[in-house]
Amino acid sequence: MSAISKPSDTLAFEPVLTRYIGKKDSHTLDFYLSHGGYDAAKRVVRDYKPDEVIDAVKKSGLRGRGGAGFPCGLKWSFVPKKTDKPKYLVCNADESEPGTFKDRVINEEDPHQLLEGILITCWAVGIETAYIYIRGEMWRGAQRLKAAIDEAYAKGYLGKKIFGKKFNLDVTVHRGAGAYICGEETGMLSSLEGGRGYPKLKPPFPAVEGLFRCPTVVNNVETLANLPHIFNRGIEWYRSIGTEESPGPKLFCVSGHVNKPGVYERPLGIPLRELIYDVCGGIPGDRGIRAVIPGGSSAPFLGPDELDTPMSYEGLKDAGSMLGSAGVIVLDDTTDLLSALLNVGKFYHHESCGQCTPCREGCGWVEKILQRMHDGRGRSEDIDLVDEICNQMVGKTICVLSDALAMPAQSVLKKFRPELEKLIAQGRPDVLCELAREPSPAL
Ligand SMILES: Cc1cc2nc3c(=O)[nH]c(=O)nc-3n(C[C@H](O)[C@H](O)[C@H](O)COP(=O)(O)O)c2cc1C
Ligand code: SF4
Repeated sequence: MSAISKPSDTLAFEPVLTRYIGKKDSHTLDFYLSHGGYDAAKRVVRDYKPDEVIDAVKKSGLRGRGGAGFPCGLKWSFVPKKTDKPKYLVCNADESEPGTFKDRVINEEDPHQLLEGILITCWAVGIETAYIYIRGEMWRGAQRLKAAIDEAYAKGYLGKKIFGKKFNLDVTVHRGAGAYICGEETGMLSSLEGGRGYPKLKPPFPAVEGLFRCPTVVNNVETLANLPHIFNRGIEWYRSIGTEESPGPKLFCVSGHVNKPGVYERPLGIPLRELIYDVCGGIPGDRGIRAVIPGGSSAPFLGPDELDTPMSYEGLKDAGSMLGSAGVIVLDDTTDLLSALLNVGKFYHHESCGQCTPCREGCGWVEKILQRMHDGRGRSEDIDLVDEICNQMVGKTICVLSDALAMPAQSVLKKFRPELEKLIAQGRPDVLCELAREPSPAL
């Protein structure tokens, strides 16, 4: 495994993505320009050939921050250079993964940082039309982005002949309607086309056949926001942060049982323990930790003995989980794990688009069985039954929403089995008292 950032690295770390968050008027063009804003985009458009930009982004090692960690420059290089079709950029600002609230901070507080990243991407790939697909509930972010786009047009940073070059770019904000599945890239493109947010089988990947069946780059907000910094400070600087396989700064969204929840920018590879105790001030009442969900609700749970896991793509993979969207949910030792997992099950069952049987039926059955285990009506065979259903949900569907329930569920069944067996055996008198007041439907 590659070297991880030492605690001393993380203490000396200087945030870049969030450096202006909380400052007055940080969302305005005047503020952004007075702090060197758009310098990187101007330099890139004037001095770099598109291929040189793609090459530099590949060398920086920037990986997509939307969940899968796919190398950004490599993705751009899949877009055909010569094509008679238009090419598109769609910035994924859907941010629906439970426990994730980082892109929102950029959209609301520093939208020009994102627009600068969009300019660099579109110059590199030869794109003249970009969309920002933002979740419907993110009203403030949509307003701030629209205002920033208006300012950029007025200044000549969007529109025709940008920075005096043969470079035209139009950017439009598109508000979604709050469906989790519209964060999945092909579902998002269908929704943007005006259809239902149904994911499509890949290949073809969007880079080759995406929006309106044209080559399309899909990148997350945070991914794009990294670009100005790479071109301002250089590849060497960028690679000096984080780990060999996961370079750069990362926005961690920490919620649940911590004293100081919030969005924290730290180097990739920071140990989970440091994030929880040094950055977020530990657990209220100095209680112990029962489990941590490290990468949004799709990520397998970690146990209390896994707090030294490096928060990098490879570190979490080695631990059998994933960095995902870096939505870190901390559960203290008073947490009812069945209740937490049932919550996850309800979410995925509700959000399944229903196209694939293993997902549509699997999510429903997992929720139902977890509900009866939770309610004190579990059967001794239920743990194995849920596990078996989950086996049928992994790797068998159009998109990975199905896996996104099966993986955390299986991690809980495996890591906390004795606790679950005990809960089933004793019949949950605590929960039954609650149910006596408000009975749940019989299963
Ligand atoms: C069910 C599901 C939901 C997703 N939701 C989001 C999301 O809200 N935001 C996001 O950026 N990526 C989301 N993704 C990942 C996208 O499909 C895509 O990989 C990502 O936007 C690519 O950007 P990146 O390479 O910059 O990470 C989701 C994936 C799945 C399977
Ligand atoms: S896996 Fe689930 S959400 Fe994804 S396409 Fe199939 S049914 Fe829809």
